[in-house]
Amino acid sequence: VDDALTLADVERLAADRLPRAALDYYASGADDEVTLRRNRAAFEARALYPRVLVDVARVDPSTTALGTPLPMPVLVAPTAFHRLAHPDGEAGTARGAGAAGVPMILSTLATMSVEEVAAAATGPLWFQLYIFKDRGATRALVDRVVAAGCRALVLTVDAPVIARRDRDARNGFSLPPELGLANLPAAGAATPAGERTHGGVAGVFADYLDPSVTWRDLDWLAAQTRLPIVLKGIHRADDAVRSVDHGARAIVVSNHGGRQLDGAVASLDALPPIAAAVDGRVELYVDGGVRRGTDVVKALALGARAVLLGRPILWGLAVGGDRGVARVLGMLREELERAMALCGAPTVAAIDRSLVG
Ligand SMILES: Cc1cc2nc3c(=O)[nH]c(=O)nc-3n(C[C@H](O)[C@H](O)[C@H](O)COP(=O)(O)O)c2cc1C
Repeated sequence: VDDALTLADVERLAADRLPRAALDYYASGADDEVTLRRNRAAFEARALYPRVLVDVARVDPSTTALGTPLPMPVLVAPTAFHRLAHPDGEAGTARGAGAAGVPMILSTLATMSVEEVAAAATGPLWFQLYIFKDRGATRALVDRVVAAGCRALVLTVDAPVIARRDRDARNGFSLPPELGLANLPAAGAATPAGERTHGGVAGVFADYLDPSVTWRDLDWLAAQTRLPIVLKGIHRADDAVRSVDHGARAIVVSNHGGRQLDGAVASLDALPPIAAAVDGRVELYVDGGVRRGTDVVKALALGARAVLLGRPILWGLAVGGDRGVARVLGMLREELERAMALCGAPTVAAIDRSLVG
């Protein structure tokens, strides 16, 4: 992984190393993968308008997210099943993120428990939650998350049902039975994971997901905890405003990396109208297709406070465990500092709307 120059290099190295079904599970999007491609295309379509003759002898990409200091405006996105990539699993990711000083958002669908990951973590941990049909079990998980020391709850709202990923269906993908889902309610943590189902994770997990969840359940969740709640998977300005009205402290503008509704808008394109509608009342993050330092600049210029990084973290983990994760984040940081210098923006506060067209 030390030889990699770009995040794309790490992806190629991971593709050489991972078994086909795991690679496809990580890489794929829903249906025809239109939204998966659109996420990248949206970044490429935006042009930068660099400012010149600005003193960029010192560039400082540091910022904060919900009061957590960030060395750069990047968080590790919640992704499932890290032990498919590396035996160290989510603990390895947490150590790699910690080495880079970047907060990790741990998925409900982790292959290690929140307690194990918190014990291994050397940096801040947030937790990504789904509301289960069994509200008591949901509440019990929130209690565990709080006890483990997580600093924020990221409620994913773009998955009332799980989309189909055709590649997984064709591969007959399923989680190997020895990898349990340690954060699911005990009764289901082991058994369904080994079932072969077409649609992959749908079979593992669909039974827990509650497709009847509404804004009222968000109010219920907010009453269960004092942790700040972040809503992940918002595409529309009206939903963003509703999120604010229901007490969310931050929003992740996200289409789940193109893995849920195929045909959904690119997350970068969804960001500007949402930024205009919330007008600074909540923090905005965006994810989906961030692969370069210049992508981070574009996201911030269009109204994000930070970006989340999904697949590149999995590629880093697959190739080099915690060192691979740290290397991915280190490369992105170098690229971001260079991009900020070349844009004439020595601080994140200097990255404004005028930098991107
Ligand atoms: C393999 C994989 C698993 C994912 N699992 C989850 C999950 O459990 N919960 C969730 O909220 N988002 C999940 N996501 C979505 C990511 O949090 C994030 O939105 C997306 O990966 C960002 O796009 P990127 O991969 O292009 O950076 C997953 C994404 C991938 C690629």
